[in-house]
Order: sequence, then structure tokens, then C-alpha cells
Amino acid sequence: MKEIVISNFKMNMTDGQIVEYFSNISIKADKTLKKLVFCVPFTSLHFAEKYQNDLISFGAQNMHEEEFGSYTGEISANMIDEFGVKYVLLGHSERRKNFNETNEKINKKIKTALKHGMTAILCVGETLQQRKRNQTYEVLRLQIGSGLDEIYENELSNIIIAYEPIWAVGTGKVAENKDIEEASLLIKKIISEHYSVNAGNNLKIVYGGSVNSKNCKQIFKIKTISGVLIGGASLDSKEFEKIIC
Ligand code: PGA
Repeated sequence: MKEIVISNFKMNMTDGQIVEYFSNISIKADKTLKKLVFCVPFTSLHFAEKYQNDLISFGAQNMHEEEFGSYTGEISANMIDEFGVKYVLLGHSERRKNFNETNEKINKKIKTALKHGMTAILCVGETLQQRKRNQTYEVLRLQIGSGLDEIYENELSNIIIAYEPIWAVGTGKVAENKDIEEASLLIKKIISEHYSVNAGNNLKIVYGGSVNSKNCKQIFKIKTISGVLIGGASLDSKEFEKIIC
């Protein structure tokens, strides 16, 4: 489905370039699209005050789990919150890999995000090797089980799970519909077992990994996901327009 579209600019775009981006983009979303989230660099989160409305929200790409303290170079939930930012990406595979983020650390970050009333977008997904070894279910179960440890069922409405198979992120190799559907059903099963069947049914899942204007229509046909998370293709305002319109 095409209910939620989330962009992830990663470490791209200066504040000036983002001004240009928003002056170029025309957001004529069709009725199916309910939420458009721009996960921009921290330095541009102030745009939330200007551009946020019922459809458009801004999201951070990460944050520290502690509220404040001696963590040189880090950004806290309070700092993000002050801009009225409602979403935060947590556990992105690039952070797990390049910044050694563990499931335990991600779990702490999720708790902090929820405490601040933000929606946490928990990114999960297997490597190609794990897929080939049929370990996808195990990997998802561990990432979701630990990531959502001590998170209560009534808090799940503020959690979105982004299924991002690592082999598809930034590679140009998009997962096939049957693989996305299968993984999203596994995620719902994990949530149903941890919480309830109702929780599994209501959970919002998005797919991420090499989504672009050419393959998005096919992906939006999948009924078990609510939308997509887009990296590279969201950086070009005209390309992104084609995806959301
Ligand atoms: P991609 O990135 O669309 O460039 O594959 C997705 C992501 O990293 O969230």
C-alpha cells in the first residue's frame, strides 16, 4: 500500500540545498498517501516548523539514547523534540554496521523516542549471506525481539518497522514482491507472538531498499506493507515527486 512514504537523505544535502529542494518539489499526493516523512540531516530539522502539516512530517535519522550529558557530538531527543519533529529512524543498517549499534542500544533509543512522543521507525533486515542460509526469520526475530524489549502493546502505535534487507539498501537490487510479502508476514508473526494477533495485524511495516520511481508502483501493490522508505531516489525532488504523486 502507499499510505506512508519516508525519505532518508542520509548525510546528503546542506541546508541551502534543502531550501532549493522544497522550492522545486510539488507535493500533489494522491488520496492513498496519508503520511510523508522527510528524514533530513539534523542541521535541517528546523524546517519542520515551516513545512510540517497533516501530510508532511520531519524525522531525524538517529539520536542518542540519553537525555543529556557528556556525549560530545551527539544529539538528544530533547533537541529534536524542540523542532516539533515527530519521527526518528532507529537501527538503520548503516548505523548498525558503521557505528556498531547493538539491538540493546537501539532498544534504549526507542524507549527514549517513545517517552518524547515520537514515532520510532525501527529498521531491520538480513544480509545476503543470512538470506542464503535461510536465517531471515531468526535475524528478524532477534532484531525485533531485542529492539522492542519492554515496549508495551499500547506503545506499538508509535512504532513503524522498516524491513530493509541489507543486500537491497543502496545497491540498486530491489527485493521481489514475494520476498517483501514473506518478510512482512514474518514480522507480523513475530509481533503476534510477542503481543497479540491484533498487534500483528495493526503493525505498520514499510519496505526500504533501492525503491525508485520505476519500481515503486509494483511495491505499492503489496497489501501487507503500509509504504516505503527511500534513500537515494528521494534526493532528487523530481524523482521523488514521481513516487509520491
Ligand atoms: P536506498 O536506501 O533507497 O538508497 O536503497 C534506503 C535506506 O537506506 O533507507
